[in-house]
Amino acid sequence: MPKVFYITTPLYYVNAAPHIGHAYTTLAADILARHKKRKGQSVFFLTGTDEHGANIEKIASQAKVAQTEWVDRVVGQFKNMWAELGIEYDDFIRTTEDRHTRRVQEIFERLHKQGDITLGTYEGLYCLPCENYWDPGDLAPGNKCPVHDRPVETVREASYFFKLSKYQAPLLEYYAAHPEFLAPPRRAKEIINFVQAGLRDLSVSRTQVRWGIPVPFDSKHTIYVWFDALLNYITAAGYGAAEPERFRALWPADVQLVGKEIYRFHTVIWPAMLMALGESLPASVYAHGWWTVEGEKMSKSKGNFVDPLEMKRAYGLDALRYFLFREVSFGEDGNFSQRALQKRYNAELANDLGNLLSRVTQMVEKYLGGRLPPQPSMKSPFLYAEIAKEHKAIDAAMERLAFDQALNKIWEIIGRLNQHINDQAPWAKIKTDREGTEFLLFDLVWCLRMLAGWIAPFMPESASKMEAQLGCGGGPVFKGEALFPRKVFESAESRA
Ligand code: MSP
Repeated sequence: MPKVFYITTPLYYVNAAPHIGHAYTTLAADILARHKKRKGQSVFFLTGTDEHGANIEKIASQAKVAQTEWVDRVVGQFKNMWAELGIEYDDFIRTTEDRHTRRVQEIFERLHKQGDITLGTYEGLYCLPCENYWDPGDLAPGNKCPVHDRPVETVREASYFFKLSKYQAPLLEYYAAHPEFLAPPRRAKEIINFVQAGLRDLSVSRTQVRWGIPVPFDSKHTIYVWFDALLNYITAAGYGAAEPERFRALWPADVQLVGKEIYRFHTVIWPAMLMALGESLPASVYAHGWWTVEGEKMSKSKGNFVDPLEMKRAYGLDALRYFLFREVSFGEDGNFSQRALQKRYNAELANDLGNLLSRVTQMVEKYLGGRLPPQPSMKSPFLYAEIAKEHKAIDAAMERLAFDQALNKIWEIIGRLNQHINDQAPWAKIKTDREGTEFLLFDLVWCLRMLAGWIAPFMPESASKMEAQLGCGGGPVFKGEALFPRKVFESAESRA
């Protein structure tokens, strides 16, 4: 089997319904997957849920339901969300599934046998929502978790340890030999410094947590939720299962997308685990930034989580998908503001793109009866050839996950096309130069067809609507419903 392009998202915790942050990573993976598929590559896109651990145990008990019932409920919300957001994943792995738990136990046992996991005791400062021990030096003032801004707890327990320290030198060598592993490149330094400062062995079992995968040879312990969850990337790919060809076709992953707060887990612990298993490392682990909402961090206490479904209802799915990747450079932090979304909706989607399509299709309808001349003689410069030259730059931006740069380029071209129509004024030209106008419209329709292909990974529904109106399937060109009907946003004006 030839190598498949393998993309992963983190496995999301099932403590609550997904919000815009979870949607962001998953949409990025979807956009990349669609881009690759359009190029004819075979792609495998994995997402899923991280269902074990003390935090889920606690939340389920607070909700007075069995853990299994709780996780099933939230998993339903995740799956529904991905369907609503047009996410075309190939597999959804749950860490409670047998295909995962069995393999995790086998791996744990094997690493124990080979001496990469040993028994010891641990005392540390633990953050429940993170499912992570913090170094005192990394805490926020007041001994608080810097991610969740809440106090950490002192935990002392017997624990199995993974010999992470042993992999310090191999990891550093690997980073040096594979500069594309730590992505985007500006994230590399922090990880290299962290590893250079020295690695301590990692506590990978808990005696206090029942809701987890039991250590197969010592049932007082369950396996640490991160050790369990990280392995999903290989268990889902068929590691250790009866189909080694499938695993060989998928692994190593090509792009593992994660938020910046879990980058260390994915670039230090995870590759060390793979090294211990003698497996190859992913080609790249890419950290993106964090969204704030109207200038504030999203939090339970503020209750300001953005619900992607609410945004979809208000603006349409494609506008939401577009906004998230146009507004902020992928990799950087950004702020989600509805006012900014509304501005972009009217200016860039309704006006720039929507009008371009409706102007062109309307003129083809009106002047040419919806039929393009098969191959008109050249009367004016060939715009299509000019615009097609930009394909390389757009493709290169997509390959680098520089989604905003691809979109900027596409919108620059949209601007050029609108300008060209204004300059050429086909509504006047048609009166004196029918052949020239025919050519102009022919040229524009082909430019728009190319444009539809470029925006398809971001806005699949709008791209298909464009393709239909542009007669891509062989039908006539027609002016259909507006792609993005102009909207008046009262709330924005009154809030501003
Ligand atoms: N379960 C772990 C990951 C295990 S991977 C083997 C976890 N889960 S999570 O539910 O907390 O999801 C974290 C991910 O959600 C982040 O890495 C990021 O992809 C996304 N986001 C959550 N909040 C976010 C923002 N405010 N902004 C952008 N993305 C963020 O960590």
